[in-house]
Amino acid sequence: MRPKYFAPKGTEDILPSVSHEWRFVESQWRAVCERYGYREIRTPIYEETELFRRGVGTETDIVSKEMFTFRDRGERDLALKPEGTAPVVRAYIEHGLYAQSPLQRLYYITPFFRDEDVQKGRYRQAHQMGAEIIGSAEPYADAELLSMLVYFFRTLGIPEDWFELHLNTMGCAECRPAYREAVQQFGRDHFDQLCETCQHRLEHNPLRILDCKVPTCRAITENAPRIDPFLCEPCRTHFERLQAILKALEVAYVRDYRLVRGLDYYTRTTFEVLAKGLGAQNALCGGGRYDGLVEQLGGNPTPALGVGIGLERTLMVLREVGAPLPEAPHPDLFIVAFGDSARLPALQLAESLRHAGFATDLDITGRSPKAQMRLANDSRATYALLLGEDELANQTVSVRNLQTREQETVAQSELTEWLNTRLPRS
Ligand code: HAM
Repeated sequence: MRPKYFAPKGTEDILPSVSHEWRFVESQWRAVCERYGYREIRTPIYEETELFRRGVGTETDIVSKEMFTFRDRGERDLALKPEGTAPVVRAYIEHGLYAQSPLQRLYYITPFFRDEDVQKGRYRQAHQMGAEIIGSAEPYADAELLSMLVYFFRTLGIPEDWFELHLNTMGCAECRPAYREAVQQFGRDHFDQLCETCQHRLEHNPLRILDCKVPTCRAITENAPRIDPFLCEPCRTHFERLQAILKALEVAYVRDYRLVRGLDYYTRTTFEVLAKGLGAQNALCGGGRYDGLVEQLGGNPTPALGVGIGLERTLMVLREVGAPLPEAPHPDLFIVAFGDSARLPALQLAESLRHAGFATDLDITGRSPKAQMRLANDSRATYALLLGEDELANQTVSVRNLQTREQETVAQSELTEWLNTRLPRS
């Protein structure tokens, strides 16, 4: 068949040959989050565009260039979510979650959409596993989140030397403006040597010149002012305490002065986990504190922080390092019907076994017994159940172990019990 239609650029189909690997990573994320006291939240695929303008910032690439926006029939401006944090904060305020408990640990798994230049590890529809802690200003919250992240990557089987936690602080609304100005002035002093994008950034988002990937820009900004002398007392103390707690928890990190992040809501702590084997798009996850966002979106002042982990990139690393991914699921049983008269009884048997909890497959395309046997072998089922004239007459089935080739006859009335003692329930 020649396809006429293709998945849109930057999107991909998650086919049955790999969907179990996705489920595995997702279930690990759920398990880890729930062990840490998070509860799942699911927010809509689209939101009012204004939520992201206010939340993420109009000068960010994500909002200014990359949002998929549209209007509904009521002329409302809507956007496919380009990230998960602003929607979670919107839901937190809208449903008064703070009234249920002043500390909320929330996690999610969500697709998100950015109209980006597509390359390895960068798509237009991608998926994030996210976690948000709303309601704690304490560095213990930052440390707990970072420790959970490292634990998560470790449980997935990524070796320690394949990923690196990068940590920085961005200060707050009090102390950052002076730092921003200093970096802006530094950029102006070196204007002609900066790339075109950085020259543009200098006016609206000067801190972003620090994380430019262009080698000449990197060489220049190596000497850019660093934030530490600009930090106000509370921000400096927060960062020092965080580092001391991380040390006590034995969470290794590197201080990365360039880590400014591409979203406007961050305050104080910012971090990314960078991984080998991902090429230019080497951030496995990113996040930080956003102590001003709840208020900015109309709630009471509430400190918060969180992380978003790229699911596609996590899978890329797992494949790269050869981490133990589960095998594709296979049926417990495959029923082979010998002759037309066995077809309906075969389907009835399949139904009763499925309802009893066994993953049971059979041919429903009318193939010959020989072809069905081939299917049974290819299916990787544990047992083939053979149903022919003799078995029908005697109310039995011939059960063949597809590995050992041993075969025995079992009464249909005893089949479930026979299988129960030999197969784990799926
Ligand atoms: P972000 O850094 O924009 O942060 O995205 C988080 C992660 O999503 C990245 O580290 C990367 O692994 C993955 N990612 C981002 N863009 C793409 C893309 N186009 N294709 C594939 N993967 C991608 C956020 O979105 C924040 N909401 C994270 C956060 C949560 N901060 C606080 N709470």
